Amino acid sequence: MFPDVRLRRLRKGKIRDLIRETTLSVNDLVMPIFVNENIDSPVEISSMPGIYNFPLSEVAKEAKETADLGIPAVILFGVPAFKDAEGSSSCGETDIVQEAVRRIKAELGDRLVVITDICMCEYTSHGHCGIIDFETKEILNDPTLEVLGKIAVSHARAGADMVAPSGMMDGMVDAIRQALDFSGFENVPIMSYAAKYHSCFYGPFREAAESGYSFGDRSTYQMDPANSDEALREVTLDVAEGADILMVKPALPYLDIVYRVKTEFDMPTAAYNVSGEYSMIKAAAANGWLDEKKAIYESLISIKRAGADFIITYFAKDAARMLK
Ligand code: PBG
Repeated sequence: MFPDVRLRRLRKGKIRDLIRETTLSVNDLVMPIFVNENIDSPVEISSMPGIYNFPLSEVAKEAKETADLGIPAVILFGVPAFKDAEGSSSCGETDIVQEAVRRIKAELGDRLVVITDICMCEYTSHGHCGIIDFETKEILNDPTLEVLGKIAVSHARAGADMVAPSGMMDGMVDAIRQALDFSGFENVPIMSYAAKYHSCFYGPFREAAESGYSFGDRSTYQMDPANSDEALREVTLDVAEGADILMVKPALPYLDIVYRVKTEFDMPTAAYNVSGEYSMIKAAAANGWLDEKKAIYESLISIKRAGADFIITYFAKDAARMLK
């Protein structure tokens, strides 16, 4: 009457460590940093306890703290003082992200990979990720591509190591690749937010980046959470257009997509553990409903197990400290 197989034999003590299939390392982490032109000291984001908006003067210090924890990369989001319908403070040489990149690179050089988010929503007064036709309220795809190319080149010129288009415009990777190559930045890789869903889990980010929209929503460009084959079509296009790294976003509610993208494309694959995923754990932990450290580890290891090579996460610094 004995069980033939006893899997519990391998679950004891150090044997458990020996057969662990997935590992989490500090090298798997990318820390997002918000840099904001409207402030002169760090401001905590109320819906994301522990995450701050930084003024330019503090951004290199924050990046250094991140690098000192062994985290290999940051992704920068900029909040400009001036916003207009065309997002014109997105691509100037001395705009907020460009200045931040310059300061971080001057401080840290090759010690830290600096990735920049390429999108218009932080810079537009209406908060949408592209140029708008005001009469029809349509977000215009092709005119937006031109601006995305300019933003990418300006970031590369400032010293960005990698650019990450997040606006879900058709053809964005191709437009950015061409713009970079034409300006002599053929060695700057593109990490595409290839399968980015129309998700409520970006809510806290919009407070952080002051990028809420004034009308409509983002469902005409971001994907329907109900779709999975469509994600693969998005990825297929981005690969053909020259994406070097594919990203799935959000992460935890979309682990099936992470898995499909990794197994079907065999490309470097990233997952974005987004603001809402962070805030949920923080809120539950603050109420004593979840063990914060365990919830962080379990989330991140699950994202790795699904196939992500690395994770963009607001928990990066916490996780790096835990892994020490
Ligand atoms: C910009 C962008 C967003 C996020 C990353 N880049 C917001 C959005 O698309 O609404 C969300 C990140 C997060 O929630 O942590 N388009």
